[in-house]
Amino acid sequence: MIGRCIGETSLTQISFISKEMPQVGEYVILEYNQKVILGMIESLVRGSVSLNNEIYNPDTVAKIRQIEGDDYYIKGTVKILGDINDNLRIPRTPAPPGTEIKKAPANILKDIFDIENSLKLGTLINQSDVEVGIDINKMVSRHLAILAMTGAGKSNTVSVIIDGLLAQNGCMLIFDMHSEYVDAEFTNGDVNVIKPIINPRNMDFTEIKKLANLKNAPIQERYFRKAFFEANEKVKQGVAESNDFIELLQINLEVMYDEGENAAEKNKIMDVLNKIEDLKIKYDKLLNTSAGDILKEIKLGKANVLDLGQVDENTAEVLVAHILRRSLRSRKDYVKNHNEDALSYPVFFIVEEAHILAPKNRNPNSKHWITRVAREGRKFGMGLCLVSQSPKSVDEETLSQANNMIILRLVEPKDQRHVQAASESLSEDLVAQLPSLNIGEALVLGLMTKIPTLVKIDEFKGRQRGGDLDILNQWKTTKKSQKKRAKRDRKEIMDLIS
Ligand SMILES: Nc1ncnc2c1ncn2[C@@H]1O[C@H](COP(=O)(O)OP(=O)(O)OP(=O)(O)O)[C@@H](O)[C@H]1O
Ligand SMILES: [Mg+2]
Repeated sequence: MIGRCIGETSLTQISFISKEMPQVGEYVILEYNQKVILGMIESLVRGSVSLNNEIYNPDTVAKIRQIEGDDYYIKGTVKILGDINDNLRIPRTPAPPGTEIKKAPANILKDIFDIENSLKLGTLINQSDVEVGIDINKMVSRHLAILAMTGAGKSNTVSVIIDGLLAQNGCMLIFDMHSEYVDAEFTNGDVNVIKPIINPRNMDFTEIKKLANLKNAPIQERYFRKAFFEANEKVKQGVAESNDFIELLQINLEVMYDEGENAAEKNKIMDVLNKIEDLKIKYDKLLNTSAGDILKEIKLGKANVLDLGQVDENTAEVLVAHILRRSLRSRKDYVKNHNEDALSYPVFFIVEEAHILAPKNRNPNSKHWITRVAREGRKFGMGLCLVSQSPKSVDEETLSQANNMIILRLVEPKDQRHVQAASESLSEDLVAQLPSLNIGEALVLGLMTKIPTLVKIDEFKGRQRGGDLDILNQWKTTKKSQKKRAKRDRKEIMDLIS
């Protein structure tokens, strides 16, 4: 027994008093009305009746302590999680005051976490013999957010999830902003690196218009639109003069320029031509007419990694938007029309640095499509995993679409409030636990788990970049190699002289 209920009890929460120190996050059971009710300890305080706040002299405290010994009490609250024998439904009657609170036996917890089609994340922080699995179907279809301060273990968690999905022949695409996963080694499948290149022929009008920076310029847009659709038509009919789509646009516009009726018209067309020239320079590495269809490179049973480490944020936004827009269309096409040529299997999209790709205060195209997938993806087998070390900078609406959360150590109050606003199941007491989590420890919430859980995430055993660097060692070895080089240079000079 841990303790007994005191004061008023409710259907969702009870207070208790105890002599032994339990742990926050620990599971307990209450037995009453022939029911076994599961709960989780959410908060704890320790106090003493005689050593109250009205004593102002430490010597007095010492004296009282000498007389009373360690006479203190432990008070806490338990969140009621539900009836163990009734699918964890919340009971209809509150526990009678005085009810015993007992530690939940491991076999009951094992039954709860033993989910069919699950992925093993780790073990309970408070009971390392109980493994914690999460429901893969619910995780992918109802989206996931992995949030924590930097270095708390987000990427490690992502790797554990990827490996678990690979074991089930899953399909995921990681938008890898720092080339962290490019040379990772998973135990259950290979990495398939996808180069950040788009064939402009696969871009639609609004997309390419944005790249060309044609905003609020209706006349320029009219010429551009005409050139775009003419070029598209020529490609379709197989009569294009060039296989470079951008060059085709330029050719069309040059013809328009030559046929221009007056100087004003010619000036406008020249403006469009200049913008296309700028686009070619700015997105030189992104656009390539000989590239294949990027969607066709997403392979089943592989960790597909879009390597965004070498491209700037602008380009990354364009790519993410392009892939999500076309994937959504392709999945709809497959689900509704059974088009065999479309993306024929569900995909889990992992968005690292979600505060850059779906930011709160800006509206890049990537945010538009991330939000669309968050809202509509479920019906078409498209899941999102948003990863961020700055939850407060992630778009609120997008975050609130994540019905599952893995929150590791999170210290900043603004971040905590933002996360709490996005998740209904995150109580004040649980938020208070977030700063005290260690590296790799997480609060797991949402539909993919039956009950909120404090988990020690497994350490990913395969190889992955992005861990903490050994700075001192790097300084030392750099100094050594500089010395060596200087010595060699000196010797070369001496050899030359002699
Ligand atoms: N569950 C874990 N068990 C043991 N060590 C861990 C665990 N999670 C993370 N670590 C260690 O902590 C370090 C940082 O982890 P990780 O790179 O996953 O953090 P991150 O939150 O992704 O950081 P960043 O914000 O910089 O991307 C790693 O070197 C890793 O070895
Ligand atoms: Mg990381």
